[in-house]
Amino acid sequence: MITHEQNALLTQTGPGTPMGDLFRRYWIPAMLAEELPRPNCPPVRVRLLSERLIAIRDTGGRLGLMDEFCAHRGVSLWFGRNEENGLRCPYHGWKYDVTGQCVEVPSEPASSGFCQKIKLKSYPCVEAGGVIWTYMGPSADRPPEPAFEWVGLPRAHVFLSKRWQESNYLQAMEGGIDSSHVSFLHRYDLDRDPLHRNTSGAKFTRSTNTVFDILESPGGLLIGARRDADPGHHYWRVTQWLMPWYTLIPPYKGNALNGHAWVPMDDDNCVAWTMTFHPVRALTTEEVELMKQGAGVHAELIPGTFRPVANRHNNYLMDRAAQEANLSYSGIRGLAMQDASIQESMGPIQDRTRENLVSTDNAIITARLRLRKAAEAVAKGGRAPGLDPAAQNVRSASFVLPEQGSFQDTALDAVRVRKGEPHVAV
Ligand code: FES
Ligand SMILES: [Fe+2]
Repeated sequence: MITHEQNALLTQTGPGTPMGDLFRRYWIPAMLAEELPRPNCPPVRVRLLSERLIAIRDTGGRLGLMDEFCAHRGVSLWFGRNEENGLRCPYHGWKYDVTGQCVEVPSEPASSGFCQKIKLKSYPCVEAGGVIWTYMGPSADRPPEPAFEWVGLPRAHVFLSKRWQESNYLQAMEGGIDSSHVSFLHRYDLDRDPLHRNTSGAKFTRSTNTVFDILESPGGLLIGARRDADPGHHYWRVTQWLMPWYTLIPPYKGNALNGHAWVPMDDDNCVAWTMTFHPVRALTTEEVELMKQGAGVHAELIPGTFRPVANRHNNYLMDRAAQEANLSYSGIRGLAMQDASIQESMGPIQDRTRENLVSTDNAIITARLRLRKAAEAVAKGGRAPGLDPAAQNVRSASFVLPEQGSFQDTALDAVRVRKGEPHVAV
């Protein structure tokens, strides 16, 4: 349980908030690169950290992310014309380049210099790993570009998806940190899901006596969850939580690795990114098709949108018969929507003054503390943690150890990225 003030500090990320200032020190996954597929393609609305922005790829292929609204009289530039290296407002023709600089005000003579004085707020973008990233913080603090393993892999090794989640980022991310729910919420799915079944993980996560061992890492936390395995052995799942909102899910055997990013759109909505990647092989056509249909930890989306087919407005297509028949523990289809449904059910922002935490929530408690301390440090002029590329270039892992084996030594070795070598998984 935390106080109302602490909950507000952790969940509010708009301009000028402590957590918002912290998040603005990182490169932020803003959109899939394919959302801006070609020069002069239609502009796309982007909501990030309670700011409403518009994204374009201009005639020369340059990326721009700027204030959504025209400086003249506030029209949404989503209606704009992306033409000749700039975005033109359709109301009176004011035109902006990718930096937000106004380059033309047709009603004013060019000699007046009027348009030079008009500039929309804008943020730098880079394209890497199939994602358009933006940096919304002070330019002096701009960090090195994202160095997550999946960013540097060949594109055929990676499948990315994003979905709109109608909740604050924190309760979504806390679901990613909380390995103990797998034994319940996802109980029957691991045996059936084509990207999880027939693995030790599917077998041993049935065990509900999860014990946590948490190690602080430079970029966040290494969260070890221990369950009983065959006699004399433990099954360990090692989740990475990386600042400020990434989780890497422990892998299942030779299946690809999975990770999430929980990026606030505003305080009541977030984008749940899912990154699936294999260090040593391309994903198969079958795997990609399955993920598009909601297998693994992806969700099936309403075509042309990032809204899941099963959503809050249709009770997530709850299937009580499947729940009763133990085909699905929660009655919701698919791991991703099982998570999303229970997280959205907490309300837009979970009231953490009313929760009752137990020992399996230790990783959540530690992550909240890390976030709070990081925000306080940045507010005092310090550097945000986890910006070093080495802190980002890590893996999750799963392994079985004899009871007396050292979790710490094994885990630290298993999460290292060895280029061209497969991940550690059982
Ligand atoms: S409102 Fe955009 S040009 Fe007038
Ligand atoms: Fe889950």
